[in-house]
Amino acid sequence: MKTERILVTGGTGYIGSHTVVELQQAGYRVVIIDDLSNSSADVIDGIERITGSRPDFVEGDCTDIDTLKRLFADYPDIKGIINFAASKAVGESMQRPILYYRNNLNTLLNLLDLMGPNGVKGIVFSSSCTVYGEPDVNPVTEKSPIKKATSPYGNTKQISEEIITDVINAGAPFKSVILRYFNPVGAHPSAEIGELPNGVPQNLVPYLTQTAMGIRKELSVFGNDYHTPDGSCIRDYINVVDLAKAHVIAVERMLTDKTEAPIEIFNLGTGHGVSVLELIDTFTKATGVEVPHKIVGRRAGDIEKVWADPTYANEVLGWKAETSLADTLRSAWDWQCRLRDRGIM
Ligand code: UD1
Repeated sequence: MKTERILVTGGTGYIGSHTVVELQQAGYRVVIIDDLSNSSADVIDGIERITGSRPDFVEGDCTDIDTLKRLFADYPDIKGIINFAASKAVGESMQRPILYYRNNLNTLLNLLDLMGPNGVKGIVFSSSCTVYGEPDVNPVTEKSPIKKATSPYGNTKQISEEIITDVINAGAPFKSVILRYFNPVGAHPSAEIGELPNGVPQNLVPYLTQTAMGIRKELSVFGNDYHTPDGSCIRDYINVVDLAKAHVIAVERMLTDKTEAPIEIFNLGTGHGVSVLELIDTFTKATGVEVPHKIVGRRAGDIEKVWADPTYANEVLGWKAETSLADTLRSAWDWQCRLRDRGIM
C-alpha cells in the first residue's frame, strides 16, 4: 500500500468508480466524495467486492467549500485529486444552465483553491472531446482547434480547462493533467460495477443494452443521412476500464514529478471511428442478442463524426486502449444482466 491518498470526487459515478478500482489495485489509498445525486452508495460494495478493500467515503457536495475544508482536515495525506464530480447530461444542461455552471465550475474552483494550502501535488480533470465540436479533420489531435461549445455542459468543460490553465500559469504550486475522453462505454469485466443512468438513458450504449433486455421497446438510430459510409454518426468508443487506467498513470506522473509541463492534455480514445449501425451490429455478434431498432431523424446538436488521434497519450503516458469493442459491449451486456439478476432493472 502506498502512503499517498487520492481524493476522487464523484467516485461513486460511472467513470469514477472504475477509476477507484484501478487506483486501489495500484496500491493507492482512496477517499471518495460524492453527493449521490446521480449514483448510489451501493457502488462502494461493488468496489470492495472487486478489490477486497473498501475506499473511504464522504457523502457531500463539492460546491460547498466548508465540506471540502473538513475533508482535507480529516485526510492530511491527500496528495492527488481526480475530479469527476460534475453534471454531465447535454440536454439537461440546455434546460438548467445555472445548475451546470454552478456544479461544474464551483466544484473545480473550490478544489483549486484548497490544493495549495493542503499540499496536494496535482489534479486530473475530466474533459471531453466535446471541446473539438464538429472537427474539420479526423482524427483529432490535442492541437486540433477548440470550437465554440454547443451546450452549457460543453462550455463548462472548455471554461474549466481555461480556469486550470490560468491558475497554473499564475504560479500555483501544483500540476494538472487534463484528459479529453471520447465516448466511454462498457463496464468492469466482473459486472460488479457499471453505468447506471437515472431514468431513460440519453447515451447510446445504455439505451441499447436496456432495449436488448426488453426494458425499452426500440432503439432509435438518430439519422442515416450523414456523410459517413453507412449514413449514421461516427464516434470513438473507449472502454471504461482502459480509460480508468489512464487516470492512474496521470496521477502517478504528477506525484513522481514526471510530467513534462505543469499542464498536460491528452486525448483518450481508441483511434477508431465506429458508426452507430456498426456498433449495434458488433453488439449482436458479440452477445447473440438482437436489438430492435429503427432509423429516426437526426438529434439536434449531434456531431457527424469525431474520433481521436491517441498517439500523444500512447507515446507519453505509455497508455493504449486495449479492449476490443466486442469485449467492451459484452461487458456492458453482462452488467445489464447483473442489474436484472439483482432486481435493480
Ligand atoms: C455526448 C456529448 C459528450 C458527452 C457524452 C457523455 C456532445 C456533442 N456530446 O456524446 O460531450 O461527453 O454525451 O454524456 O455534446 N445515438 C442514437 N440513439 C440513441 C442515443 C444515441 O442513435 O438513443 C447516437 C447519437 O446520435 C451519437 C451516438 O449514438 O451519434 C453516441 O451518442 P451518445 O452516447 O449520446 O454520445 P455523444 O452524443 O457522442
